[in-house]
Order: sequence, then structure tokens, then C-alpha cells
Amino acid sequence: MSIIESICQRRSVRSYSGEALSKEHAGRIEAYIAGLKAPFGAQAHIRLIHTDTLEGKVRMGTYGVIGGARDFLTLAYKKEPLAEESAAYLFEQAVLFCTSLGLGTCWLGGSFSRKDFGRQITLEPGEKVGIVSPVGYAGSKKRIWDVLIGAEKHHASRKAFGSLFFSHDFNRPLTEEAAGIYRRPLEMVRLAPSANNFQPWRVILEAGTLHFYHQKTLGGFDAIDSGIALSHFGETCRELGIAGRFERLPSREKEAVAVYSISWIPEGGSKEA
Ligand SMILES: Cc1cc2nc3c(=O)[nH]c(=O)nc-3n(C[C@H](O)[C@H](O)[C@H](O)COP(=O)(O)O)c2cc1C
Repeated sequence: MSIIESICQRRSVRSYSGEALSKEHAGRIEAYIAGLKAPFGAQAHIRLIHTDTLEGKVRMGTYGVIGGARDFLTLAYKKEPLAEESAAYLFEQAVLFCTSLGLGTCWLGGSFSRKDFGRQITLEPGEKVGIVSPVGYAGSKKRIWDVLIGAEKHHASRKAFGSLFFSHDFNRPLTEEAAGIYRRPLEMVRLAPSANNFQPWRVILEAGTLHFYHQKTLGGFDAIDSGIALSHFGETCRELGIAGRFERLPSREKEAVAVYSISWIPEGGSKEA
């Protein structure tokens, strides 16, 4: 499955069959995670926890949000510049890989016990578990939580292209035509999951360079959400052969409307001065 296909297929799965991951699936996920490297000069670690092989009767707390899951991915990172964007970039790669294997996942930022999960993994000094996700075979039972939060509606609803992406400054919406080669990668940003489906990502296209921002949200997961969007953008560009690199431009930090993360510089630099 291509990255674009995986992005289109992925959705938050909160109900699982109760089956543990097969040896083959677990092995493939372990191998994939081992080959990942966090971007933007930061560090993050993903671990796969099998509750079946833990000692004693261990149930990982997910406050009734997730049912029937036996395996979980955890994301740990420490405070450093661009740590959340970097960690989320990495974790979304793992999530999309699991999607490509036909497995369900669900980003969890709030609905899990940090104590339960922290106890099961060896953290590096300064590291904290920031995110977890169940990973496994989707179950058929509908969860009350899904109904309460309107999960179906959330999955289907994304803001319009022109409310997320802009030309030159935040006053001018970007059209799909004006996005040129970046139309598809930006469309993949639009499909990204975000906490509470807040979709805080905002991107300015200026002279062939894209500047990635995020709005501050109540939940406080906006830098994480930004990293997921960057992952969809960067990995789609890679898949489509669009060459460029991410670089933080200090001149972009002074922006009243949104918080700056990083920019995408096309190969050969910006088209205009
Ligand atoms: C950083 C982050 C944290 C999230 N935390 C939770 C959570 O604690 N509980 C939950 O049920 N869903 C959580 N979600 C899932 C979102 O609600 C979901 O991605 C969004 O509503 C869009 O739906 P979709 O993933 O099906 O496209 C989280 C998603 C992200 C990206």
C-alpha cells in the first residue's frame, strides 16, 4: 500500500477483536520501528507493548475509550526544540505502516493512564510517554465513546483547503490550482488526524517554499498535530518524487496568528527572491 493509500485508509479504530497481534504482524512492526529515525534533529522512541506477555494480569488503562486491544504502541520523547513535531512525525509513520498491514490504530493523547504505560517500558533519562495507540484487528462492537464524540462525523469532516492553506500571508486562501505540485501533499495534510479533530495546521506557500504553522488549541496537542501533518506532507512528497528539505527559519517565528514549526524548502531553493 502506498503512503497516499494508507493516509486515505487510516481512521481511528477504538473497538478491537480481543485477538493479540500475530507473530508475523508483530515482527514486521518491530522491524519497521527499528528502522525509523526521528527528523528535525530531535529524538523519540516508539515501543510495541504486548499485554499478553507481561507478567501478571495487566490491563492498560484507556478509560473505556478503547475496547479489546491487546497490543499498544507507545511514543516517548524528552523536551527539546521541535520534540513534539519530530516525535509525532515518527509515530504517524508507524501508524500508517500498521494501516498498510490492515491493522487498526488510534492516536491517544488523553485517554490513557500514563502510570500504567510508563511502568511497562524503560524510559531514557528525561523521557516521558506522550502518546499511545492500540494496534490490532478491528472489532465489530460499536463503542459508546465513538457515538458520544461523533467519531464517524469527525473522521469524515475536514476543513476546506482554503481555510488551512494560504498564499503569501494568512489573509489570502490558497486555491488547489495555485498549490501546483503541492496540491496532493497538502490534500494529505488535510486528511491528517488531530486531537479532537481540531485541525490546527496552517500552511503558507510563498515563492515555492511552504511554511508550517499551528494554531494554539485548548487540548494542547497542536505541536503534535503539526508533526502528523508534516509527516503526511514529507512522506507524500517523498513518494511523489518532490525534492526538498525541512528547515527552521528564525525569521518566521514572529507571527501573531499561529505558532511556527518549520518550513519546506524545495530543491534548488525558493523560486523568487
Ligand atoms: C494527538 C492526538 C490525540 C488524540 N487523543 C485522543 C484521545 O485521547 N481519545 C480519543 O478517543 N481519540 C483521540 N484522538 C483521535 C482523534 O479524535 C481523531 O484522530 C479525530 O477525531 C479524527 O478522526 P479520524 O482519526 O478517524 O480521522 C487523538 C488524535 C490525535 C492526533
